[in-house]
Amino acid sequence: MKILGINGSPRGSRSQTLRLVRAVLDGAASAGADVELVDLCKLRIEYCNGCLVCCERGECVRDDDFAGLYRKMLASDGIVLGSPNYIDSVTAQTKTLLDRMADAIHCQLFTGKYGCAVATAGGSGADEIVAYLNRVLQTLGANTVGGLGVVLGGDPETIVPAEGKAYQLGRRLAGAIERKETYPEQEQLHAAMRERMQGLVLANKDRWHHEYDYWQTAARTP
Ligand SMILES: Cc1cc2nc3c(=O)[nH]c(=O)nc-3n(C[C@H](O)[C@H](O)[C@H](O)COP(=O)(O)O)c2cc1C
Repeated sequence: MKILGINGSPRGSRSQTLRLVRAVLDGAASAGADVELVDLCKLRIEYCNGCLVCCERGECVRDDDFAGLYRKMLASDGIVLGSPNYIDSVTAQTKTLLDRMADAIHCQLFTGKYGCAVATAGGSGADEIVAYLNRVLQTLGANTVGGLGVVLGGDPETIVPAEGKAYQLGRRLAGAIERKETYPEQEQLHAAMRERMQGLVLANKDRWHHEYDYWQTAARTP
């Protein structure tokens, strides 16, 4: 079982969000997972330019660190996304990564994967960031097992009990993967997304050859 954690804070080792992502991974490792942590902001990932060549070919035209990280994500059973609240949203680096994943959404490439999200904020909005990141994971096809948003409020001690909760979240993530847990509400969402995405790809089949071929393969439909 492989679980990949991605921290979208640019503050490196000083990042409080990093502490949560790391605690989730520690919890998952204690439950038997192989874990890896990626410091997103150390990578060079450029903006999506909206060319949609990824839909035609299954890979991006940009030559940067995205392809390597994307391969790691696709090879993982579980994904942990972490970001601080920057002006009521995720960091630009996190959003830039997500924008590069349109092809993965069209093909529902996270189907069968599990995920969770963590976020920190100075004053408010951490739960909204968690909800957003989990929604993106679900939109990609993954099941989400929960999340943790922490408002730090200037108290350096706030993060300490939160790390304990993050550790438990990691154990839950590993357990869900192990037991292949299903969630009726999310199954409904996945079924609707698969139908919608297949319709979208069909409507663009003359250009989006890779995605059309992908959905034509009967094995893709569970
Ligand atoms: C550019 C910037 C924008 C921020 N915007 C918000 C915000 O809108 N709301 C909030 O509560 N905190 C905001 N913060 C505070 C961070 O969310 C908070 O310090 C967070 O814990 C930093 O996480 P990190 O230590 O992982 O980098 C902002 C911080 C920065 C640097």
